[in-house]
Amino acid sequence: MNSSPDTDLGAAKQAASDNAIQRVLVLEMVRVTEAAAIAAAKLIGRGDEKAADAAAVEAMRKAFDTLYMDGTVVIGEGERDEAPMLYIGEKVGMGKGPKIDIALDPLEGTTITAKAGPNALAVLAAAEEGCLLNAPDVYMDKLAVGPGYPEGIIDLAKSATENVLAVAAAKGCEPSQINVCVLDRPRHAELIAELRGIGCGVVLIGDGDVAGVIAVTDEETTVDMYMGQGGAPEGVLAAAALRCVGGQFNGRLVFRNDDEKARARKWGITDLDRIYKLEDLAKGDCIFAATGVTSGSLLDGVKRRRKPTGEVYMTTESVVMRASSGTVRWIRGEHRIG
Ligand code: FBP
Repeated sequence: MNSSPDTDLGAAKQAASDNAIQRVLVLEMVRVTEAAAIAAAKLIGRGDEKAADAAAVEAMRKAFDTLYMDGTVVIGEGERDEAPMLYIGEKVGMGKGPKIDIALDPLEGTTITAKAGPNALAVLAAAEEGCLLNAPDVYMDKLAVGPGYPEGIIDLAKSATENVLAVAAAKGCEPSQINVCVLDRPRHAELIAELRGIGCGVVLIGDGDVAGVIAVTDEETTVDMYMGQGGAPEGVLAAAALRCVGGQFNGRLVFRNDDEKARARKWGITDLDRIYKLEDLAKGDCIFAATGVTSGSLLDGVKRRRKPTGEVYMTTESVVMRASSGTVRWIRGEHRIG
């Protein structure tokens, strides 16, 4: 059967679009998160959040320079006047090649790192231009469940109890067999009481809800659902990961004052009450990459080792995933430092 010129054009456009992300070197993104993680790791347990963050930002910024892409930071370290590097709108990469939007958090878990706690990550998501929600730095109500459930099983418009009951029914178990991960914050006292009231296990985490949300996709963590408020930028990053490995996510921005609402409007958000699903946060093909800074549920942290020859090196563990193929690669790196 002959294809029409229109079909050929459509296929060519699709191929170009598929390649766009491929050419941004999925694996190269790991170099970027590795660099940030190694830099931050030098400050694990030093009690200095700002220094750890600054080290990660600087290393990530530098690592981007070698990538063949015309990248733009859409979620970063803040607005231009607040952040010297990796600010929203900053161009990254060689300035040639595919136009890519980047959401990043060079150090997700600054307090964790300062206190040598679990689950600090260097993390980023990349997608074609216009495919990541430009989320303002406000809170987001989050609700997530892993893969394998009927579409629409979770709904942020419903209560925590209703959502747990729906997931328990689909799983064929009692609510008491459902574990929900929640950030340990006073603002979640009612939510935690409600969940415990229906018998759920509540897995409290001190920080790091990107890893918290991703935990719902990993059978080994025993976390079935994620609930509660955390940063909106972290919500987009976690959504990009779920786009790659499966699962469902609902997010709704939470505004504490008019200034935060104005910031959202500035980024083009008109419906302030909207419930965002995965595709609204990260659409099309996208990449998610992370390297562990401290060890946690998702990844091992950076470790300093010495070979019998006396050579000192750092080991890293990273994961990189791509939505269109569903490929997940776990990468262990050895980095010579002395
Ligand atoms: P930082 O790396 O910026 O410290 O963020 C850590 C974090 O726990 C995020 O994972 C989470 O989304 C957010 O802070 C929650 O904010 P808050 O600490 O204000 O409750």
